[in-house]
Amino acid sequence: MANQIIVNAKTKKTKISRMIYGHFAEHLGRCIYDGFYVGEDSDIPNVRGMRTDIIEALKRIKIPCLRWPGGCFADEYHWRDGIGPKESRPYRINTHWGGVVENNHFGTHEFFDLCEMLGAEPYICGNVGSGTVQEMSEWVEYMTSDARSSVTDLRRKNGREEPWRLKYFGIGNENWNCGGRMRAEYYADEMNRYNLYARDYGENRLYRIAAGPRNANYKWTEVLMRDASMYVDAIALHYYTRVGDKIITTHLPDGNERYYSDDSRSRKSATEFGEEDWFGIMKAAAYTEELIAKHTAIMDRYDPDKRTALVVDEWGTWFDNEPGTNPGFLYQQNTLRDAVSAAVSLNIFNNHSDRVHMANIAQTVNVLQAMILTEGERMLLTPTYHVFDMYKVHQDADLLDFAMLSDDYVWEGERVHQISASVSRDAAGKLHMTLANVNPDQAAEVTCHIGDFDGAPHVEGSVLTAAAMNARNTFEQPEQVKPQAFADFTVEGCTLHIQMPAKSVVLLTVS
Ligand code: AHR
Repeated sequence: MANQIIVNAKTKKTKISRMIYGHFAEHLGRCIYDGFYVGEDSDIPNVRGMRTDIIEALKRIKIPCLRWPGGCFADEYHWRDGIGPKESRPYRINTHWGGVVENNHFGTHEFFDLCEMLGAEPYICGNVGSGTVQEMSEWVEYMTSDARSSVTDLRRKNGREEPWRLKYFGIGNENWNCGGRMRAEYYADEMNRYNLYARDYGENRLYRIAAGPRNANYKWTEVLMRDASMYVDAIALHYYTRVGDKIITTHLPDGNERYYSDDSRSRKSATEFGEEDWFGIMKAAAYTEELIAKHTAIMDRYDPDKRTALVVDEWGTWFDNEPGTNPGFLYQQNTLRDAVSAAVSLNIFNNHSDRVHMANIAQTVNVLQAMILTEGERMLLTPTYHVFDMYKVHQDADLLDFAMLSDDYVWEGERVHQISASVSRDAAGKLHMTLANVNPDQAAEVTCHIGDFDGAPHVEGSVLTAAAMNARNTFEQPEQVKPQAFADFTVEGCTLHIQMPAKSVVLLTVS
């Protein structure tokens, strides 16, 4: 069999929300401190403490939104710690991540400042696990109300006269584990209570996101849809692509799940792996399709009009930390394997953009599947960054209808589709096709017919690939893996014959 794609250039399905290309930054390891934020006194070029090179790099990939302050940190974060003069902000212990001292120099004002510099929508996650209803309610008031009150006067006193505009607001994070070890029913009730008092002030309208399930915890989705979906705009799924996990799941008789961490287990190396673990990651990335389809099927029963979105506000690869680094900092290198798996996941999100409104890869700088790694003043762009750069053409474009037949990539009797794809048309009328070939050994011949295309197609391409499965960028050699021009295709009328290299990501632009 061969790989075949048939695109209908005139059949638009849905708009691919640019928020699918969103990011996540937690007070974890070196993501915020010694990552985004180096402080005003740093020798590293910065604007009000934010690293200029990071801002510029993220603007190039059109970062649409940034989720903050966690993650598990969010359910231990007390926003009043992070406002006012920096020298009087309290020191706290970041108990969840490495037990390091949190000096709170990066807080609410700094976060909005960062988002303004990035041109990104802020997405703030509130504290349900260890905070109070009043605390969350007043944070929203502090940020978004124009009225005169002791809370908003505090904002003015701290130098911000006008309220900020805040759309995306999360009501807790992973409340089935680090956010309070709740059962679905209990969280739904608590979420409704916290959510009620997180008011809309003036013209500001919150887009309310409930903490959703882990992986295949379908009971969580069912309960939230039944008991809380009428009060929120979205439910957030968390799914990490891994070949080894530390979390053990216990299934309770009522369908709820309990999670325990076994630190003697390994999540496997980010850089030292053979084909077994390459295949494992590709299979785990492909599983995103099943997860989204099944959570969506539950949501469809309660909400056939798709009013409530699914947001995947944590996703990406998760490996053992780099040897010699603090295990609580989750610092991992990033290889071609990360890039190809990201391409597969993003194609799936695009193809489900009727339900998936947002996704936030974890995490932007120096943590998990990062876009950017830093070491002192040095900075490198990871292979995953380059996938986001190639895929940015899909942001707010119309998803096009297509049919696909794929060969299998088989490893030890298990199989996944060799190719993955998504196709969109942008406002200027250009058609963009992104393809991933997950087979590390075999090129993929792809025949693509573009139906209903006006005129003779002009095609341009770029490719991300490398000789080794674990090829990566290092501070010494930061440009080992980066996109190259791609011309390994022929055009016959409206049919493209594409030769994709093994383990590659390809972008084709048809105009
Ligand atoms: O991204 C790292 C952690 O993974 C987040 O803090 C948490 O929400 C998830 O378990």
